[in-house]
Amino acid sequence: MTTAKHFLDLDVVDPAELRKILDAALARKQKRSGLPKGALDADSPLKDQVLAMLFEKPSTRTRVSFDVGMRQLGGGTIVLNSGDMQLGRGETIADTARVLSRYVDIVMLRANSHEALSALADASDIPIINGLTDKSHPCQIMADIMTFEEHKGSIKDRAVAWLGDGNNVATSWIHAAVQFDFELRLACPFKLRPSASLVSWAQDKGARVTVTEDARLAADGVDCIVTDTWVSMGDTNEIERRRLLSPYQVNAALMSAASADAVFMHCLPAHRGEEVTDDVLDGPNSVVLDEAENRLHAQKAILLWCLGH
Ligand code: CP
Ligand code: NVA
Repeated sequence: MTTAKHFLDLDVVDPAELRKILDAALARKQKRSGLPKGALDADSPLKDQVLAMLFEKPSTRTRVSFDVGMRQLGGGTIVLNSGDMQLGRGETIADTARVLSRYVDIVMLRANSHEALSALADASDIPIINGLTDKSHPCQIMADIMTFEEHKGSIKDRAVAWLGDGNNVATSWIHAAVQFDFELRLACPFKLRPSASLVSWAQDKGARVTVTEDARLAADGVDCIVTDTWVSMGDTNEIERRRLLSPYQVNAALMSAASADAVFMHCLPAHRGEEVTDDVLDGPNSVVLDEAENRLHAQKAILLWCLGH
């Protein structure tokens, strides 16, 4: 076990630290407003540092936002696909961590299994960032909280409804409800609800996290409706998932149950006509592109936090 400052999950970082990260993200975003995307932040705080991004699964937003973000901070990046590495031929994740620790300053991993992320972090001398696993997606939800607050003010004591699969993104929303102190109502089919132990953990911490099978009940009067794909990377039972999840589609009727100025969020990629209809995704309440942009700003602040800035 090393003392490197990893960013592995929202439940294991102190809430005051999470707030500091979001404040730093917003300040840095505002400071470079209007600059071309390739322009360096004036202070170039990560000059001479290198980020390796290691992917076991596809990515558009995570890949590009980390890459551009690290460059804006003055650092360099390397993209590694696990299939092109000795990792893909059986080298252990721990040995990979020890070797990468000698070449680069920080690693972001998108992993099939959360165990691989833990193994990488345990063996690494340098900070590791969770860029999505089967269990969670903490960087996404940092960007989501930032986006909510830009549009609606502080998320504390506000109400968010999660519609659909109790998946990795939902898990990070549950962690966030505890850490940022807002109400989270999850509407999920019984077979795809988040684990009972996770929900009890949140409730034991005093969080207002509830699970129902009734989509309309969850959406009633909320400040934000959020959903995600019905078939995540690595899921196999596509047909059954579509059948179970079809009552949870976010459409105009469902949005009308929320407060009139509720925001609609989705981490993307969206499957138009499945979990969300075009009119909602492209409609006036949708903030999905701000969410995507804020991946960049939130992750720059996460990189800086991990590297002691
Ligand atoms: N939201 C998100 O993580 O997108 P990518 O899979 O494209 O990185
Ligand atoms: N739940 C989705 C999120 C993609 C960003 C997945 O894991 O595929």
